[in-house]
Formats: sequence, C-alpha cells, structure tokens
Amino acid sequence: MKDFSVLFISIVLIIIFAFGKCSKDVRIERIAGPYMCAEGPHWDEKKNLLYFVDVVGQKIFCYNPVTKKITHTYLKNGQVGVAVPVHGKNNEFLAGSGTDLVRVFWDSTADDKDPRIEIISKVDIGVEDTRFNDGKVDPKGRLWAGTMGEKNYVPISGKGSLYRFAYDGTPATMISPVDISNGLVWSHTNDSFYYIDSFAYNIVVYDYDDTTGDIYNKRTLFDLKKNNIKGIADGMTIDHAGNLWVANHDGGLVFQVDSKTGKMLRSIAMPVTDVTSVAFGGPNKDILYVTTAKDKLSETQLQEQPLAGSVFAVYGLGISGSPMLSCKIR
Ligand SMILES: *[C@@H]1O[C@H](CO)[C@@H](O)[C@H](O)[C@H]1NC(C)=O
Repeated sequence: MKDFSVLFISIVLIIIFAFGKCSKDVRIERIAGPYMCAEGPHWDEKKNLLYFVDVVGQKIFCYNPVTKKITHTYLKNGQVGVAVPVHGKNNEFLAGSGTDLVRVFWDSTADDKDPRIEIISKVDIGVEDTRFNDGKVDPKGRLWAGTMGEKNYVPISGKGSLYRFAYDGTPATMISPVDISNGLVWSHTNDSFYYIDSFAYNIVVYDYDDTTGDIYNKRTLFDLKKNNIKGIADGMTIDHAGNLWVANHDGGLVFQVDSKTGKMLRSIAMPVTDVTSVAFGGPNKDILYVTTAKDKLSETQLQEQPLAGSVFAVYGLGISGSPMLSCKIR
C-alpha cells in the first residue's frame, strides 16, 4: 500500500513537472534594430556570435549576446541578401550583394564603413532589376543563394533564380524562374532539400544528392492557404529533431512544420507582421533568433508596429537547433 502511494505521488509529480515544462512561457525579446529589412540570421558557433543583414541598408551586422554589442559593415557594392562566414578563415565572409557573389574582409569586433571586398562571380547576367535574397550553406559547405525581381521595393515575379556555388565560386542554376527565393534547409540525413519560393505560398521538398549537390523529384510539403496562414513563407531553419521552423512574412508568425508529414506542429505569434527569417543560436542553440522587416509597411502599420524591422530572440521553446555551417570557397 505504501509503495503504491509513493508510485502514485511520483507519477503526479512527473505529470506536474512535464506539464509545467511544456506550458512554460515563451519569452520574446527585441535584441537589435529596427532596420529596414533584417534578413539572413546565421549563428557562428565557433565565436558565439549572430550575423544578420539589412538588405536595404546594405549592411552585415554582428551581435554578441554576451556583451550585447552590435557592429556592422557597409557594402557600397549593393544590397545584401545573405552573408555567411568563410570556413577556416578569420574575418572573411561570403555575401550576395546586388547580383554579385563577393568576399568581404571584415573584423566583426568593430564597425567598418568601407571594407575590402572581392567580386567572385556574377549571376542573373542580362536580367534587369534583380538582387540576391536569402542563402544557406549545404552539408558539403557549398553556398546556395537565390535572387528575386524587385524595383523600388516592389517585388517583380518570375525574374529570380536559385544558384549553387562551386568551391571556386562558379554558379550553377538550380531552380528557375522563381519569384522570391527563400527558405533553404537540408535534412539531417543529407538527402532532402526544403525550399520556399514565397509567392507559391508553400514549402516544397526535393530529393538531394549530397555528393553531386543535385536536386530532383519536387513535391509540395506544406500549403500555407490550406493551413489558413495569411501572408507568405519566408526564411526557414531546422531543429534538432528535424522539424522546420518557418518565418511568415505579412502573417506575423513563426511556425513549426513536421518535415516528413507536412503537419503544422506549433506557431508563435511575433509582435510584428513582416517576419523574414529564423535561426537557432546561443551556446546551447536553444534560442530562436528571428529577423523582421518594415520596408513593405504603410505609415499606419508602422505606427501600430513600432518594433517592425527588429531582430528578436525567442527563449523558452524547449527545443534546440543544429549547427549552421560556414562556407567552403577557394
Ligand atoms: C550530413 O552532413 C553533415 C555536414 O557535413 C555531417 O556532419 C553529417 O555527418 C552528415 N550526416 C549524414 C547522415 O551523413
């Protein structure tokens, strides 16, 4: 009888503990900004730093979560859609700026208004009014980055492409045409590639060959409209369990999708509508960093959303992400 009570109390305690843990409050904190269009968060696990860009401001930022210090560098070359650290190098980044792939020499401990850059290759040759948007590094260290059509901050459909860059910087066209190239996640098993062309209102999955870097057999994984999600899907990342975390532009959410079944698992309401991208970071990779934008908002919307364009940290999700890779380039 006594044993039974102990068992009973233990079970009750376990239930209370588990419930308490699940329902623990998710806390959202503004850590940087606001900027015009913050994008492309990348956690540098070697240095414990977060990088992100302001596309419109033509800047790469570095946030140190320990000191809270934010530094930046300005690329006069053009708008910056993505920036990732170069593997095995200190103070070198690969960035998509305008329609150029550039190497940026920047010591992120200080601001640099005119860093040395080197143009490695060019994309969208002969196509007008496009610029780099989001990009990510694949499991083999190759950078993939896509473009979008845009004139006076208004997107133009059907002008962009997704490129994969070889180790010498040569671009290969992977998907074309695209409206707004976004998303970009590879499965932990390195055999699936998840992609978002924002105006398709979905997330698609391809089979991925890690050796050749080729993709084939496109399927729709998740349809925003069928799941009653307003707006478009923007950037995304993957958690430790292999589920996708998706930024919802014009819908104000960050939502989690099962990468196998396409089922929506969870959604977090952000304090602003135009959520652009997500990345796990922090020493335990259990903080979800969320970038947002204000460049597409009206005056009224801007007054209602004074934090629009900020970068946020979401704590208490109870999950963690996987390491983000730096880029291999000769
Ligand atoms: C997938 O690629 C990553 C990065 O190169 C590697 O660490 C990991 O072992 C690979 N996983 C499998 C299942 O091959």
